[in-house]
Amino acid sequence: MWNDLKAKADQIGDRHILDLFDDARADDFAVQTQFMRFDYAKTNIDAATRDGLLALADRAGVAARRDAMFAGEKINETEGRAVLHTALRNLDGGPVMVDGQDVMPGVLETLDRMAAYADEVRASAITDVVNIGIGGSDLGPAMAVQALSPYRDGPRCHFVSNVDGAHIADVLRELDAKTTLVIVASKTFTTIETMTNARTARAWMKDNGGDPGTQFCALSTSEEKTADFGIPASRVFGFEDWVGGRYSMWGPIGLSLMLAIGPKGFRAFLRGGQEMDRHFCAAEGTENMPLMLALVGIWHRQVLGHATRAVLPYDQRLGQLPAYLQQLEMESNGKSVDMDGNPLPVDSGPVVWGAPGTNGQHAFYQLIHQGTSVIPCEFMVAATGHEDDLKHHHDLLVANCFAQSEALLRGRDLDEARSKVVGKFDGAELERQAAHRVFAGNRPSTTLIYPMLDPFTLGQIIALYEHRVFVEGVILGINSYDQWGVELGKELATALQPVIEGAASAEDKDGSTLRACRLPAYP
Ligand code: F6P
Repeated sequence: MWNDLKAKADQIGDRHILDLFDDARADDFAVQTQFMRFDYAKTNIDAATRDGLLALADRAGVAARRDAMFAGEKINETEGRAVLHTALRNLDGGPVMVDGQDVMPGVLETLDRMAAYADEVRASAITDVVNIGIGGSDLGPAMAVQALSPYRDGPRCHFVSNVDGAHIADVLRELDAKTTLVIVASKTFTTIETMTNARTARAWMKDNGGDPGTQFCALSTSEEKTADFGIPASRVFGFEDWVGGRYSMWGPIGLSLMLAIGPKGFRAFLRGGQEMDRHFCAAEGTENMPLMLALVGIWHRQVLGHATRAVLPYDQRLGQLPAYLQQLEMESNGKSVDMDGNPLPVDSGPVVWGAPGTNGQHAFYQLIHQGTSVIPCEFMVAATGHEDDLKHHHDLLVANCFAQSEALLRGRDLDEARSKVVGKFDGAELERQAAHRVFAGNRPSTTLIYPMLDPFTLGQIIALYEHRVFVEGVILGINSYDQWGVELGKELATALQPVIEGAASAEDKDGSTLRACRLPAYP
């Protein structure tokens, strides 16, 4: 199957995407739900390629695996766990069974407890919330709080993740310990960065007139460890091991978002996720948005070999989405063996990167347009902004978004480039100048268009990308839900800490590490 698709790619050669356009393409190569539109017409996928990609998904058993995931089967096979972040947003769905037990009563009870606690905090003297967590216990809520800032009517939320003391020092410096709530967010409650920052915050609060006994709460799967830290069970919001860290913002890890926008807004966010779940389970083939987003990704990475993809939200408030998606996609699908431990026959997931437009246009788009590597671009834009009095800004933003995908598609050939410099130069100099102004074009992009970045829409967008990662993982035959690749660095850092502190020797290390460990002695 991979070979068939690769043969198809070879046949396509340098066919221009523009040549694929007929009257129907714009609608045929798009997925429209009741709420959003995903346009992939500006890719080099034709009907036959799409059939091949759909067949690949069929052969990989995507639909059966999807049903197994929603049904609570242990599809995280290396850790023996179910994968049920979808249960966290199953607000009015049926029971979800894990090991013969319905998990929904527990999920809904925790959601109600969170809401009651959020109401209490929002009505109190607390002005600021500091979420201490890292990776999945940071990136999701941090991204969402920024994305939904027009809906914030609760305390200001700050996020501390890095073990670099500069991070926590810069955040706490601005805050009043007496009116600050600290959330310690860690699924395992063992992550060294988070626990180090939590202890530093506790000391700061104590030294500055706050009360860590009442102004700390915890989000974790470990009741024992949160109790050891001194946080009473009434202020611990737990979840189960079937929620992966990078998929956890729908439950307790989303508490900072709930504090910021209120329980009602948070539920709207969950409803958006649930809406995408329903769509993902019900829509067939080309009508299925996560499936098609994934197949476009597979086409670009595994078939055509493009090593990276750029996520380009024309939405300033989605500024942290690329970082969020980096963890979601790269921690999930950055694997080199399949579920049975065999090497993958194709590349793993791509490098994901990006920044909001229009800023990126004045920074790295040069390489996207004229560099020698093709970088598939994923544009995102809202039909309407929140700033009614600044509609002309939004119009300009949208125009820039569409102009970029058009420029990538069309490019500029040598004749047109010559016409831009004729009159200014002539002869050999005209040719030289024109050559610099040629854009290859024929560069693929997709565009996601949504009505407005509200909680319901953000929920849909995040669930869309989660399911995209799922589909790509199933097609690759990998386990998207473990992350052994981050363990080695953690182990070695723990072993090196006493060396850096001068309490142990590093003589067994390689020369470079040994030299680096001595660095503090040579300021
Ligand atoms: O380092 C990887 C990781 O395990 C992520 O998968 C996770 O999101 C992050 O660390 C934080 O883990 P925890 O929530 O347990 O502190």
